[in-house]
Amino acid sequence: MRVVVTGAHGKVGRAAVKALAEAGHEVTATDLARPVFERHDPGEPRYLQADLTDAGQAYAITHGADAVVHAAAIPDPTSNAPHVVFHNNLMATFNLIEAAVRLGVTRFVNISSETVPGFFFAERPFLPDYAPVDEEHPARPQDPYALSKHFGEQLMDAAVRRSDIKCISLRPSWVQHEGNYERNLGPPRCGTPARSGPGSGATPTCTTSPTPSCWPSSPTCRGTRCSTSPRPTTRAGTTSPPCCAGSTATRSSCARCPGSTRRASPARRRTGCWAGLPSGRGATTWTRTAVPARGDARL
Ligand SMILES: NC(=O)c1ccc[n+]([C@@H]2O[C@H](COP(=O)([O-])OP(=O)(O)OC[C@H]3O[C@@H](n4cnc5c(N)ncnc54)[C@H](O)[C@@H]3O)[C@@H](O)[C@H]2O)c1
Repeated sequence: MRVVVTGAHGKVGRAAVKALAEAGHEVTATDLARPVFERHDPGEPRYLQADLTDAGQAYAITHGADAVVHAAAIPDPTSNAPHVVFHNNLMATFNLIEAAVRLGVTRFVNISSETVPGFFFAERPFLPDYAPVDEEHPARPQDPYALSKHFGEQLMDAAVRRSDIKCISLRPSWVQHEGNYERNLGPPRCGTPARSGPGSGATPTCTTSPTPSCWPSSPTCRGTRCSTSPRPTTRAGTTSPPCCAGSTATRSSCARCPGSTRRASPARRRTGCWAGLPSGRGATTWTRTAVPARGDARL
């Protein structure tokens, strides 16, 4: 199958290009960066430079493709002006799905985001209606990134309404790989703002910690933080178990525990638990099938 992968220089796109090429597909990789005019290594995917906010370039790279994996985006709302994030992400997705429909592409994978329900970058924080959150949870995005992803999913819905293309929107959680796992999910030092992701900018103070390093060397601090964190009610109305307090296996057990992986309360932020924990964003992956009859669009 001839597959175009957008955002091919990014974390998701790079992995998608590799996996698809290894699976024997004819891959065209595309991104904003300039190509290098050199002979390709055997098996190396073709690379095309394109800014997808330009419709002509979106059409040019889509021409001849059977399928598109759309991973190009500005992946958070914190490093660019709001209108830049919104415009880039929405127009790139609009141009690409428009081109795909018009040019007869049969399958389209839209990399959306777990932020669509709205909790992660909300200016006015709120908690999920229930946990674990799934794709049926109401979407209440506030920030330009989540809004662009929310609208992007609606563009997929519109495409399958008006054509035979099959679309699926995936909502990955915070993307990690071996090169950034420790940096992003390892313990920040107390007083050091988290660099990115949930709680970014929040400064863990760890007032109960006897040492400046609050995790993992200080179980007291960690235990205090986690034992004061809220435990959301599950859908069935039961209370999820406390998984962090006093546990030395916090990272893995928290990743599986809804009670420790959901939105941080203001109290939890103050004590730095949110920034220090992996937060469990890696634990939840949603998929959303953008066809009237769900399940029909599986690729
Ligand atoms: N990084 C995360 O934690 C995360 C979480 C959920 C969803 N996502 C989504 O996954 C997808 C991939 O994210 P990532 O982590 O690989 O991001 P990334 O920043 O590593 O890669 C994104 C790539 O898209 C390219 N790009 C951006 N705007 C473009 C445009 N207008 N035209 C062409 N290329 C453009 C960039 O140059 C970059 O190489 C994005 O849609 C992102 O929103 C990411």
